[in-house]
Amino acid sequence: MAFKPVKDGGRGGRTRFTRRAAVAAVGVAALLTAGACGSSDDSSGGGSGSSKVEVFTWWADGGEKAGLDGLVKQFGTDCAGQTFENGAVAGGAGANAKSVLASRLQQGDPPDTFQAHAGAELQDYINAGQIEDLSADYDSWGLKQAFPQGLIDNLTVEGKIYSVPANIHRANVVWTNKKVLAEAGITKDPTDLAGFIADLDKVKAKGIKAPLAVGKDWTQLMLFESVLITDLGPDKFTGLWTGATDWNDAGVTKAINDFKQLLTYTNTDRDALDWTDAEKLVMDGKAAYQLMGDWEAADLDAKKFTDYAWFTFPGNGDTFQWLADSFVLPKGAKNPEGTKCWLKTVGSAAGQKAFNTTKGSIPARTDATPGDYPKYQQAAMADWKSFKQVPSCAHGSACSQGWQGAANSALGKFSTNQDVAELQKAMATAASEFVKK
Ligand code: GAL
Repeated sequence: MAFKPVKDGGRGGRTRFTRRAAVAAVGVAALLTAGACGSSDDSSGGGSGSSKVEVFTWWADGGEKAGLDGLVKQFGTDCAGQTFENGAVAGGAGANAKSVLASRLQQGDPPDTFQAHAGAELQDYINAGQIEDLSADYDSWGLKQAFPQGLIDNLTVEGKIYSVPANIHRANVVWTNKKVLAEAGITKDPTDLAGFIADLDKVKAKGIKAPLAVGKDWTQLMLFESVLITDLGPDKFTGLWTGATDWNDAGVTKAINDFKQLLTYTNTDRDALDWTDAEKLVMDGKAAYQLMGDWEAADLDAKKFTDYAWFTFPGNGDTFQWLADSFVLPKGAKNPEGTKCWLKTVGSAAGQKAFNTTKGSIPARTDATPGDYPKYQQAAMADWKSFKQVPSCAHGSACSQGWQGAANSALGKFSTNQDVAELQKAMATAASEFVKK
């Protein structure tokens, strides 16, 4: 497993491998407990009285890093005397970070704070007793009034709230290369799957072999979820994750067949690509489309690619597939006081603006001014208010991490064998194991 080096955000620009993290991820946990892997981190902080706040994310590059940098700057203003330490482990959707984090939590070596998705994913950490109750801080920081009730409900478990949301992201968006579409004579956004396939054919006819760029497992799960929303409608889609909709439903079979057809328009090296690699195919004009969350808006901006547009996945209608990044206070954090200052910044109006204007997401707070945001986020803010909201399994709002892992691996297999019945059975089995009884 390759770990990219991560630059310390705004603090000296030191490049370091998250050595402790990499070791944990390859399963050499014993080395850690025996102290055989002496990390430079261990000597420079920790213990009571630490003024370092290690912030663990997977936001290491592009628009994701730009968002984090914005938050770090605000933290510097709000939390004098505290120092940000970048614990980021690169890899889209936390593909590497989550296993590293799990090992660290298991070892009793938590970062001071880490990102976790609101909803089912957060519940995993709550159920495992790994994070602290922040309800009293919510009261003193006025956060219950700042966030929409639906989000508060998603964050609340047995009356307690354990994390502070930084944003709302949208997952079911298709990003396009305008020039490629213009060359194929496409002037209107497709609104259903048939129209989308017709447009994919038009781009293909211009010599672009794989007009729909996609990456590995979790990015395929995102595409599959979008097709499920189209074929089942938003309510039945949500029911897949609550147990109200049977995964053996004929609508799911149709969705798998539609998804299979879409895969014929994608790059054959998909299983080796992260979302940014697939995004590059769009930027380079080697593909016309990519289904991806709206962190892509920020990333394209950060990479100075301006010739893009977006539309809601065809057939999703007025559905906003949401997810929210939130930050927690792990049990055993070395610097709880500094971490609370970080969390307060995350939840504040200034923190949310500093973060979201460069992250592609919209603020979770309801008191933001749309005019402060780029064009894409202004549209997303309006949609968030009026559209039907459904959760995402690929990004933890709909399903637990165990379920997500099972889904990713089923999609990975499908990418190779294209066996419709096998995928449906694997998803039905996962649901029977993981749905909350
Ligand atoms: C999501 C996360 C987003 C973005 C994305 C791609 O899980 O919520 O903020 O980072 O992964 O890495």
